[in-house]
Amino acid sequence: MGTGKTTAEAWRSGDGVTPALELAGVRRAFGGVRAVDGVALKVAPGTVHGLIGPNGSGKTTVINLVSGLLCADEGRISVVGRATVGLPAHRIAALGVARTFQNIRLFPDLSARHNVLVGQHLHRHPSLAALLCGLPSAHAEERDADAKADALLERVGLGPRGGEKARNLSYGEQRRVEIARALAARPRVLLLDEPTAGMNPIEVQAVAAVIRQVAADGHAVLLVEHNVRLVMDICDHLTVLNFGRVIADGAPAAVLKEPDVVAAYLGTSAA
Ligand SMILES: Nc1ncnc2c1ncn2[C@@H]1O[C@H](COP(=O)(O)OP(=O)(O)OP(=O)(O)O)[C@@H](O)[C@H]1O
Ligand SMILES: [Mg+2]
Repeated sequence: MGTGKTTAEAWRSGDGVTPALELAGVRRAFGGVRAVDGVALKVAPGTVHGLIGPNGSGKTTVINLVSGLLCADEGRISVVGRATVGLPAHRIAALGVARTFQNIRLFPDLSARHNVLVGQHLHRHPSLAALLCGLPSAHAEERDADAKADALLERVGLGPRGGEKARNLSYGEQRRVEIARALAARPRVLLLDEPTAGMNPIEVQAVAAVIRQVAADGHAVLLVEHNVRLVMDICDHLTVLNFGRVIADGAPAAVLKEPDVVAAYLGTSAA
């Protein structure tokens, strides 16, 4: 860019930074339920963008639409400027989108390390001949992949637990393995669906630090989270949903004071 600004600074000053993720007019209904009803948002590279709202407001559906698990009925979704609506999930993943799930989805009988290795597959290209012949290059690549998986486990505070089967890890540890697996894909856009659910306060702090660091490394994070304190602490920007619609968008402290947001959370009608 040549201006000496960081990407996040350039974004704030409107200097033509392409959003890592952009949604415009996105809709998705299930029968008569308008789960996502005209959602627009932009996530800047190098930032943590919170997506909050009451239960059933459409947060997970947004993540499913972005990751390609669901297809939008209407609207535009783009990842670093590339339109993704209609692409299969693996193509969207190849564009740089990785996610965790609200309900943990690990392979319970695989070790933590092997679960993370699953996330690296986009970046591993050993030749088939090398693998079949057991060539040293294939073994070297395997060792390298193991070391990278262990480094990611270390990063989420699970360094010594790599050999443990996922089923033997605590709920909070399993969530952290999911984050490590998503990071293994080296995503431009990381989608986290309630990553701290079921964690104790020490684990929450550890995950908060990991999320901030991921953003500092230049990734864009879309964070669905019920813990308002955490959202205040680590989000650069907030979008609030209610009944599938955006009811507020902006800086966290200001957004959380808006009457519509307070009313949505307290379940009363807005003043
Ligand atoms: N596959 C589905 N089939 C039918 N209805 C669905 C489906 N997925 C979501 N819904 C409905 O869409 C609405 C939004 O659900 P969604 O799971 O996106 O909400 P959420 O904000 O993630 O809620 P929570 O905070 O409880 O996780 C809800 O009314 C839900 O019942
Ligand atoms: Mg949800």
